[in-house]
Amino acid sequence: MGTYENGRAFAEYKDSLDPIAHLRNHFYTKENQIYMDGNSLGLCSKDAERAVLRALEDWKTYGINIWSGAPTNYFLYHDVIGAKLARLINAKPEEVTICANTTLNVHQCIATFYKPEGARNKILIDELNFPTDRYAITSFVKSRGLDPEKTVKVIHSRDGKTLNEEDILAAMTEDVAVALLPSVLYRSAQLLDLERLTKVAHEKGIIIGFDLCHSIGNIDHDFAKIDCDFALWCNYKYLSGGPGAIAGLYINARHFSRGPGLSGWWGNRKDTQFELRDTFEHADNAGGWQTGTGAVLSLAAVDGALDIYEGVDMAAVRAKSLDLTAYLMYLIDTELSSYGFTVGNPREDAVRGGHVALEHAEAARINEALKAAGVVPDFRYPNVIRLAPQPLYIRYTDVYDLVQILKTIMDTGAHLKYENKAGTVA
Ligand SMILES: Cc1ncc(COP(=O)(O)O)c(C=O)c1O
Repeated sequence: MGTYENGRAFAEYKDSLDPIAHLRNHFYTKENQIYMDGNSLGLCSKDAERAVLRALEDWKTYGINIWSGAPTNYFLYHDVIGAKLARLINAKPEEVTICANTTLNVHQCIATFYKPEGARNKILIDELNFPTDRYAITSFVKSRGLDPEKTVKVIHSRDGKTLNEEDILAAMTEDVAVALLPSVLYRSAQLLDLERLTKVAHEKGIIIGFDLCHSIGNIDHDFAKIDCDFALWCNYKYLSGGPGAIAGLYINARHFSRGPGLSGWWGNRKDTQFELRDTFEHADNAGGWQTGTGAVLSLAAVDGALDIYEGVDMAAVRAKSLDLTAYLMYLIDTELSSYGFTVGNPREDAVRGGHVALEHAEAARINEALKAAGVVPDFRYPNVIRLAPQPLYIRYTDVYDLVQILKTIMDTGAHLKYENKAGTVA
């Protein structure tokens, strides 16, 4: 993306040019800490805090009347937040809602879209997606009395890190009814071409959706162009919506008439919901995919966190993310390769997401030494340290300092006092 130089002065110069550097002020960052885990759990922001405190205050003030009497529209909060999320991926406001968690939204989407017809009866997934998607699909298939071995078709990786798009396209055969694939792979950061995959899937009569957990809030997806059928994601990573934040769900408007596979009263038409009729009539937007009452305190954190994105061009976020990660790779190549570090993610901008997959045979213990030195990294078994310079709050100087810390660890052998094995939460 650019040409880079060694030395801290260069990093300071890059920070001075950064058009979105001011966004860091929104977040609770810590002196002497380099937070490289925004792709696992984004930092808390003052905006999220403000919105949660407001919701608490509203609960105190309004009691049950919080649903209709407060200035914030909590009854339609999922629609309000959905519209804010939609802007980030250029979807229509009514196509996005916020509900449940990613895993349950996989269940919801498969229950909605898996309509086997004759020989077209398979669900297509890949072996590198975060395992919960596969667990959910396998259990769904079993609950229908079907055999996962026969019903779930798995695309395999050639190198254990990435997916070959030709293999994905070749797997889109006539027996596939629905496909669920990741946008960015959680380990290797490979970014798939969602538009191309959707186009071919549709040519072959396949419904296709994506897990955007590792791209929402970081990559400037254009859903008007991608035009896939559904998508789901968690809001606690790049979006910083809070630990276990309520998740995101996109349903393409052309499918509104289908209604949800899993229904509940919160997805009912809002004008008749409280008539509590015998028959469910789903709202004619993604909100129709709601099930039960929304968790307002958790929704508020996402609502507040999304305010930071107001007026921010996602293209600028993506550009900074690509630049920060390219700079990190440059520093790894020039300063760390002699210590046995390699870059495990794809190199080209068009096929990589927001983190760098730093590989080393002793990654587990180096990761421990990084933590002791004030870095918050993310270890993925057996040999990957994921480093995600979240562009809203990470500076070029943080990236520079991180690499110097890694050098010092290797020079002093600070990692050798740790065992080279993973902890319980990694
Ligand atoms: C791609 C992907 N999908 C799903 C999840 C987790 O889903 P949930 O929010 O339901 O725990 C993760 C968590 O890291 C993930 O990386």
